[in-house]
Amino acid sequence: MSGPPAATSQVPRSRRSLRTRLLVAFVVPLVVVLGLVGVASVTSLRSELLGQVDTRLDAVSDRSRDYSAQPGEVLPPRPPDDGNGDADSEPGGLGARGQGEGTLVATVVDGTCTNSGVIGAKGETVTLTSAQEDVLSGLTPDGEPVTEDLGGDLGEYRLVAGTAPNGDVLVNGLPLSGTADAVRRLVAVELVVGLLALAAAALAAVLVIRRTLRPLDRVAATATRVSELPLASGEVQLAERVPPEDTDPRTEVGQVGTALNRMLDHVEGSLAARQESETQVRQFVADASHELRTPLASIRGYAELVRRQRAGVPSDVGHAMRRVESEALRMSELVEELLLLARLDAGRELTTEEVDLTALVVDTVSDAHVAGPTHDWQVDLPDSPVVVPGDPARLHQVLANLLANVRSHTPDGTTATTRLRAEAGWAVLQVVDDGPGIPEGLRPHVFERFARGDASRSRTAGSTGLGLAIVHAVVAAHGGTVEVTSEPGRTAFTVRLPHASEV
Ligand SMILES: Nc1ncnc2c1ncn2[C@@H]1O[C@H](COP(=O)(O)OP(=O)(O)OP(=O)(O)O)[C@@H](O)[C@H]1O
Ligand SMILES: [Mg+2]
Repeated sequence: MSGPPAATSQVPRSRRSLRTRLLVAFVVPLVVVLGLVGVASVTSLRSELLGQVDTRLDAVSDRSRDYSAQPGEVLPPRPPDDGNGDADSEPGGLGARGQGEGTLVATVVDGTCTNSGVIGAKGETVTLTSAQEDVLSGLTPDGEPVTEDLGGDLGEYRLVAGTAPNGDVLVNGLPLSGTADAVRRLVAVELVVGLLALAAAALAAVLVIRRTLRPLDRVAATATRVSELPLASGEVQLAERVPPEDTDPRTEVGQVGTALNRMLDHVEGSLAARQESETQVRQFVADASHELRTPLASIRGYAELVRRQRAGVPSDVGHAMRRVESEALRMSELVEELLLLARLDAGRELTTEEVDLTALVVDTVSDAHVAGPTHDWQVDLPDSPVVVPGDPARLHQVLANLLANVRSHTPDGTTATTRLRAEAGWAVLQVVDDGPGIPEGLRPHVFERFARGDASRSRTAGSTGLGLAIVHAVVAAHGGTVEVTSEPGRTAFTVRLPHASEV
């Protein structure tokens, strides 16, 4: 068993658009670089400023040590802390010349702060709280500067503890508030400038990506238009091409455009070749059918002649001649049907006149009734005649073929109802029978040429499988449609013809 699928909340990378992926690929490294530059500049500024403070702190320490080491100078002992910070408790180092505002000096004796102070804004001495003194007394007197947070108004301090000439520990310090302010300002400036630069770069990237990929959209649009063309059959005009400005082979999109155009050239060539060969075959069938008409008529004529001369013709020869005549007749019909299909395929114009479908139904059903008296022929007609523009002979053939099918493919006693009605400008002609239905495997192919049910039985009955193909071709040539629904007990062929009117 494989593990559970990866989290589905995230869109898989491959499903994001190329635009999004390019934008991410551009913006993410930019953010990383800006972040690294920011961190590096803040770190280096901070260490530079600390270095400067340390240098100044060295000077402060020197001054304090020198001051407290002056001969005769004895630091007064620290009186009990009264919290007023009077001058008596002030460490001597604060008085040294050159000590500036914020300078901190303290003396630690035996781990206890004996006196301490910070130079205030006006040069006054501010005493430290005991918590702050505790921090100072905890420092190691190794002469190494350390950073400590003294809290209160003082904040972070850079402190150094060293041993004074008299053996006491002398602590000196300088405030780091200036350093912190400078670092904070730099961070703020970097954030604002960085975000603005990022927004500007992302905007520029979006514009550049959109502009760069626009030719790809045009190539895709060309491919889409081609995919919507009906290329399956008939004379195909494949005029779609990628515009020349998108076929520059020096660009990637141009290579796609060039390849697509080359492919379209090939497809157009193949389609033209297919169309030409189809036309040739159609022409051949039409010519062959046409050429067969005359000899077939002669064969029928001679056979009939022999049949009529009953005297002197042996009975078996007479029988053979009748067979020759009927097969020649069947062959003539087949040739006529092939010729008609070839002409319809070639888009040969049908004659167009007003055809009264109501009269056509009445006539054709009467013919069927005569030809198949063992079937029950019903008609269902509208009150007023339905008229369509079309070829009367061909439309007659459509209905005759449908009725002939009922006659030859359903048992005696089957009822066939021919219905006609006009619906929103369409004439709907329907032939419904209650016979056994079209075999299931044949249904999807029933309008194809030479598609027949039980082949052997049909062939003996003189069936060729062209009847419904002709129905389909004639109806299509009239701009109409034909559909079939079939199940045992109900088979319905529905023909729809456009531009119908009731008169
Ligand atoms: N009303 C129907 N009931 C049952 N089967 C049908 C019906 N109409 C058509 N079929 C089936 O569809 C097949 C194709 O019909 P189509 O009219 O194209 O050819 P055909 O009748 O066999 O030959 P042709 O009409 O050329 O003499 C038939 O062979 C038959 O099996
Ligand atoms: Mg038929």
